[in-house]
Amino acid sequence: MDKILGDKIHGIAEKFPALNQTVNGRRLVYLDSAATSMRPRAVLDAIDAFYARDAANPHRGLYDMAQRATEAYEGARAATAKFIGADTDETVFTRNATEALNIIAYSFAPLVLQNGGSIVIPILEHHSNLVPWQVAAKKYGATLRYLYIDRATGEIPDAELKKIDADTKIVAFAHVSNVLGNMLPVNKLVAAAKAVRAVTVLDAAQSIPHFGLDLRALDVDFAAFSGHKMYAPMGIGVLYGKKKLLDSMPPFLYGGDMIEDVREQDTDFLPPPSRFEAGTQNAGGAVGLAAAIEFIESIGYDAIATHEAALIRRLVAGLNALPDVTVIGSTDENEPRFGAVSFNINGVHPHDAATILNDYGVAIRAGKHCAHPLLKYLDVEFNACCRASLDVYSTNADVDALLDAIPAVRKQLKL
Ligand SMILES: Cc1ncc(COP(=O)(O)O)c(C=O)c1O
Repeated sequence: MDKILGDKIHGIAEKFPALNQTVNGRRLVYLDSAATSMRPRAVLDAIDAFYARDAANPHRGLYDMAQRATEAYEGARAATAKFIGADTDETVFTRNATEALNIIAYSFAPLVLQNGGSIVIPILEHHSNLVPWQVAAKKYGATLRYLYIDRATGEIPDAELKKIDADTKIVAFAHVSNVLGNMLPVNKLVAAAKAVRAVTVLDAAQSIPHFGLDLRALDVDFAAFSGHKMYAPMGIGVLYGKKKLLDSMPPFLYGGDMIEDVREQDTDFLPPPSRFEAGTQNAGGAVGLAAAIEFIESIGYDAIATHEAALIRRLVAGLNALPDVTVIGSTDENEPRFGAVSFNINGVHPHDAATILNDYGVAIRAGKHCAHPLLKYLDVEFNACCRASLDVYSTNADVDALLDAIPAVRKQLKL
């Protein structure tokens, strides 16, 4: 078994051209995949082939090239829908997860918040799944309630779920935290929301790179993710919505390719997904997303998960073993984490740590990770932290390069 997995993953980094570069005379050690993953040659080639051959505007022309463009774009939608366990008319292409979440907050939230009510989100949310709800709550006179996590484990205590009550209209939550890397209890959150007939929104931006997403099985009402965190290009993302909910929503943007008929004073809109895809879309990005899905399927999520879990264990164990390093959230190396591990080097501002690590060719993210309320709540030094994050192309050598470089940080700062 291990051998089969090893064969699929071994040497995979060579398929990612951007990983093959040096930084300050050292091999690039890319540990910022939670910000954006690198793209394999197969994805770059698929985008190139689209623009080299099929680059007409989808849905508009009757000539051959335009037909091929439409087939490429709608083929990408069909592949994406199948990949996430959805129908094509439930799968809307957006620029990214942020846009998808904003569409829900802008077009759906007013339908259920006419009489106020509450929106419930965990404190660990990325700003993309927090600020739109804050704005919607203010706009419609609703309350934004937070589910506070246990600082030591990152988990949401059951008692917190009681905040999802008869007043609650929307429960929005990340599948995996972009800071702590832990998985949220989707089934419990969906059950609590269903019990009070609240609508659920899953932010899958940090889960879909690491494990499969069967939206029908999870039974969430909406979901959002970005292609660029799963080996696809930047500028393509997905909004999933149950058909009856998308059908009930007004458009977010207005213009070409989303209308049935336009008269001088009014317009009939197309049904979803077109209703939410006004203007020329990122067809090359959609093609790249389909190629990224093919790439993931060629390896399989089982192999990806096994490989990444071993790396995460090595990383957490290595960080725990270093003096003057504090792992944020659970310090248990066997606790499941997906992609990201956050930590601090005691007494060192994370920006200084990241800058010095760059001298060693190691690229990590440092700061508040678009999660200011979480970093404040965690009460860590500097209200900020370092984050190392992995993907399928990451290796033991990458993890060891980070662990080997960390002691140099305090030394360089004469601490
Ligand atoms: C959990 C989570 N949600 C949403 C986003 C937003 O993704 P994007 O910037 O691609 O819209 C991110 C990005 O880091 C994220 O980590």
